[in-house]
Amino acid sequence: MDGITPLRFSDDTLHLLDQRLLPLEERWLSLATLEETALAIEEMVVRGAPAIGCSAAYGYFLGVLALTSWPGDEASFRVLMAPAAARLRATRPTAVNLFWAIDRMEEVPWSADRGQCLAALRERADTITSEDYDACVSMGDLGADRLTRDLPPGPIAVLTHCNAGALATAGYGTALGVIRSLHRQGRLLMAYSDDTRPRQQGARLTVWELHRDGIPVTLVPDTAAGHLLKTGRIAAVVVGADRIAANGDAANKIGTYMVALAAKAAGVPFYVAAPLSTFDWELPSGDLIPIEERDGDEVRRVGEVPVTVPGIPVFNPGFDVTPAELIAAIITERGVVDAPDTARMAAFRGM
Ligand code: MRU
Repeated sequence: MDGITPLRFSDDTLHLLDQRLLPLEERWLSLATLEETALAIEEMVVRGAPAIGCSAAYGYFLGVLALTSWPGDEASFRVLMAPAAARLRATRPTAVNLFWAIDRMEEVPWSADRGQCLAALRERADTITSEDYDACVSMGDLGADRLTRDLPPGPIAVLTHCNAGALATAGYGTALGVIRSLHRQGRLLMAYSDDTRPRQQGARLTVWELHRDGIPVTLVPDTAAGHLLKTGRIAAVVVGADRIAANGDAANKIGTYMVALAAKAAGVPFYVAAPLSTFDWELPSGDLIPIEERDGDEVRRVGEVPVTVPGIPVFNPGFDVTPAELIAAIITERGVVDAPDTARMAAFRGM
């Protein structure tokens, strides 16, 4: 796996790049327990749907590693691990990759041989991570080909929101994977990144990783997105997703829906790039996607600096849902769903 990655696992320790500190400081934290991993997800040391899933998989492994006595049968093992898995599941509600990854870890069969069981769990967490990286590279290339097919020839400007990059995945990124592949093909004129209030994943993370990789990037305030789209500066919008319902509705960072509406009004295609681990086939509609509500201080302050009346009530949803009818196509590692709706999503699933 080449390039920037937000996580590494070695010597029974999960190493996470502390994304709360970027771009001012590059500090890696070393986590040795499931509880430390759960806290790191909650506190957004690591964030982004696929990266949360990979980290939770290693967190589960660390939970099993910490068992002081080895259970004598599968049922006792599951009973012992249930609270640990529940702790990880309770960290963040919206990104389905978290639940998907824990489910995959729980599918690893128990073995009477502790060493054998641990080796299988470690292998599963490694596979979840390496598969995510491979998926990102595939969807990046597929997405770049799709944009090239859909848009007039020549280099294009692309707008993105939040950070759906290497930092949000095992590496390479989903939306930023498409942007990376466009750049490699000489098709990228400019990546525009919304700053993404209130946590500024665009300003702090997207800009950092694209700039570091020598990819042209311009930061814009969220409030400028409509203007950019309306004045013809943007050829396409590409964003990631935290959960995609069976009808193609896609949850992503708060503000994404406004960008999709502005793109529709300007006649600019709006693409979602996400791996299959982000699809929630159990939910018939995006209205059912749980939306995380975050601490009001994220809005009352910019960084540590208060910017409003102390204690003023705040409503701070972390995500919103873009209805499928605003999405030109969903780009996955296995192909593209054009103009997604329930029937086209089901046909894609059955392919
Ligand atoms: O709150 P965050 O930073 O975890 O939100 C991240 C996003 O909304 C990303 O766009 C999404 O997870 C896709 S990451 C490939």
